[in-house]
Amino acid sequence: MPPLPTLQTKGAFQQAMKNRAIREKFVNAYARIAGSFAIVFTLAVLASFPPAALAQTTSEEKKRSDAQTALDSPAIEQKVSELLQKMTLEEKIGQLVQYSAGQATGPTSGRTDDTDMIRKGQVGSLFNVTGSQKTNTLQRIAVEESRLHIPLIFGLDIIHGYRTTFPIPLGLAATWDPSLVEKAARVAAQEASAGGVRWAFSPMVDIARDARWGRMAEGAGEDPFLGAAMARAYVRGYQGERLDSPDSIVACVKHYVGYGAAEAGREYNSTEISEHTLRQYYLPPFHAAEEAGAATFMSAFNSLNGIPTSANPFTLKQILKKEWGFKGFVVSDWTSVSELMAHGIANDGATAARKALLAGVDMDMVSNLYHRELLQLVQSGKVPQSAVDEAARRVLRVKFAIGLFDHPYTDENKEAATMLRPENIALSRSAAVHSLVLLRNEAVSGSPILPLATRISSVALIGPLADDPGNMIGSWSALGRSEDAVTLRRALAGKLGESHLRYAKGVEILKGSDEDIAAAVRAAQSADVAILALGEDAPTMTGEAASRSNLGLPGRQQELLEKVVATGKPVILILFSGRPLTLPWAFEHVPAVVAAWFPGVQAGNAIVDVLFGDAAPNGHLPLSWPRSVGQEPLYYNELNTGRPASDPAHPRQEGEAKYISRYIDERSSPQFPFGFGMTYTTFGYGTTQASAKELSLAALTDALAAKGKEPAVLSVSVEIKNTGTRAGESLAQLYVRLQGTSVAMPVRMLKGFQRVTLAPGESRKVVFDLDAKTFAFWGAENTFGVEPARVTIWIAPNSAEGQGTTLEIADK
Ligand code: NOJ
Repeated sequence: MPPLPTLQTKGAFQQAMKNRAIREKFVNAYARIAGSFAIVFTLAVLASFPPAALAQTTSEEKKRSDAQTALDSPAIEQKVSELLQKMTLEEKIGQLVQYSAGQATGPTSGRTDDTDMIRKGQVGSLFNVTGSQKTNTLQRIAVEESRLHIPLIFGLDIIHGYRTTFPIPLGLAATWDPSLVEKAARVAAQEASAGGVRWAFSPMVDIARDARWGRMAEGAGEDPFLGAAMARAYVRGYQGERLDSPDSIVACVKHYVGYGAAEAGREYNSTEISEHTLRQYYLPPFHAAEEAGAATFMSAFNSLNGIPTSANPFTLKQILKKEWGFKGFVVSDWTSVSELMAHGIANDGATAARKALLAGVDMDMVSNLYHRELLQLVQSGKVPQSAVDEAARRVLRVKFAIGLFDHPYTDENKEAATMLRPENIALSRSAAVHSLVLLRNEAVSGSPILPLATRISSVALIGPLADDPGNMIGSWSALGRSEDAVTLRRALAGKLGESHLRYAKGVEILKGSDEDIAAAVRAAQSADVAILALGEDAPTMTGEAASRSNLGLPGRQQELLEKVVATGKPVILILFSGRPLTLPWAFEHVPAVVAAWFPGVQAGNAIVDVLFGDAAPNGHLPLSWPRSVGQEPLYYNELNTGRPASDPAHPRQEGEAKYISRYIDERSSPQFPFGFGMTYTTFGYGTTQASAKELSLAALTDALAAKGKEPAVLSVSVEIKNTGTRAGESLAQLYVRLQGTSVAMPVRMLKGFQRVTLAPGESRKVVFDLDAKTFAFWGAENTFGVEPARVTIWIAPNSAEGQGTTLEIADK
């Protein structure tokens, strides 16, 4: 990770200086209101602004993307109109039809006549077809044999890489590094497009507050601000500088919307989300992706307040298309149009197709109902032809915008050389290093167990995930191959030499024998240190259709862990999982624990880099890590309740208050808070300072109206000191609380983050430059704005720490 100042580009610097001028004017106006103390303080803080800190909250996240420009282009609109005029109703409907040509992840359409349909212009898109040869063959039928020569768009679930597999998205989120994620998505785009795929069903930007839900693995965790930053990064990476560049692919933002709030964490379950909660917490990452230019959205499986999201005019038409002005198209999730019947809002396929289309679902994935029903629905007057025209217009707009009409084919000679390039493997290794979260690192014989000394004479490597390449690439790894993955065993053998390694699998993920456990214990006894690689089975226990009601280690892994710890040897636990696991025993008895998620093709090398200190761990949790499954859903940005508990210890002691919001048999706090992550040094955070004690509501409201170029209205800083003996990087996180508002707001909300690298003993003031949006929220009338409020701001190393400062937003 580069230190702060190097983050700045020339453009960002100029923008920063411009904003600095605006901000000085602005903050000084407040300072006059707040009195002379504030003026002096404001000037002092302004004088110490590092320019990069300004860049962080100004230009970067607000620039309108080329994709939006392309989707808004009058020239493209003209071409779409001309083409639409030539099309029959059947051909228009054809653009709204999508089939999977490969592996099914749900019921299939039952159709096997894809090529005939393509020839007749009855298919707009195929997915699960990969490779330039195969896509070119099908594309040739569309372009050369169909009446109007309209190319197909080929899609695929490119979730964390195409051939070069990166950490799973939850791991990428743990990097808290959008620029790294953007680079990873760019690599995926280059490889996928070389294989003829121009459309990724990614990013998944669902807020996930419940670790029982398996798809937590595919998203960026629980927070809307971090989720929005990641959403933008993926969209930029996939869609690149220019949407029509042959190596750009279209992003598909999913699952719109609320899917992650599945009741009880059970996959595909219903959701109940108030409009306020939807707008305040669930929609922001979607909106951020849309603003970054995402050209497609995917409607979800879940029902939302009783209306399935694949037939929900409020979310699709009102919010996405009208309020946000989304110009691309919406594809349904897999058979989610026909599932409207199972939901109970349609008793036949025709009604399902009508409801989905009229609600704003432009393309029907797999269910075959648009193909089967729309013609008749239009002819009978049940669906206006304009609805089909509009949906076809959107699909064609995207096809023109990505240059498919000009370049429908892929260069078959370039495909092989584009895959797994050394620099991309190196990027995957770096992403994996940055995704590792050090959760615990206790002293053994006087100093923290990690990093390990390279001269260590013997290591016992134990566990079902120590040498399992297939699991390293996680679930849903597109064209990733297990043979490309480096396991921990391979990497450790490379680092230490085989003779220093005692490998014993111990158990399988789900089962194990007494003999194998005993052999693993013997391996530990004969070594200086034991490394255990335990966790979940990625394909079956994480991702889609992998909800769990128990979040412990599967099978006999816990028993294995306890027996190895009982040997008295120092133990390091590497946890591979797509979610946090509830392991209270481990967090008390195992000296070192690393959350590794599923790290991708360079898993073993990245872990070894960190274990031996060649790289320091600096991942941070994008979620609240539960102590027990009964705490779920668990998230840091919760409301205070009328009877908040200060998290008394478990179990409840005599004399403690009873009538407060708490469990009688478990603590309320997480095992590890959102934002938590250790490294090989320690940091001290001072008290947060703000440049003014009062902000004017009127001025904030004006600043908020300056959409897209909001000036900074407040600067907030903290002194951070490296209190350890090694150089290291701290992730400074800025949290805000608003009180006295028309709706209850969370106890904390993340509103910024930046990294600072410090030498041992070094201190630095880290400054955040905040705009009015930081203080804006969805109020009681479901309008977005600023209200008079008491504001508390913390700059802290995680969501549970920090010394805050308080100021007022005054009604003047
Ligand atoms: C169902 C999943 O929910 C979605 O994420 C995916 O993109 C589609 N299947 C296509 O595979």
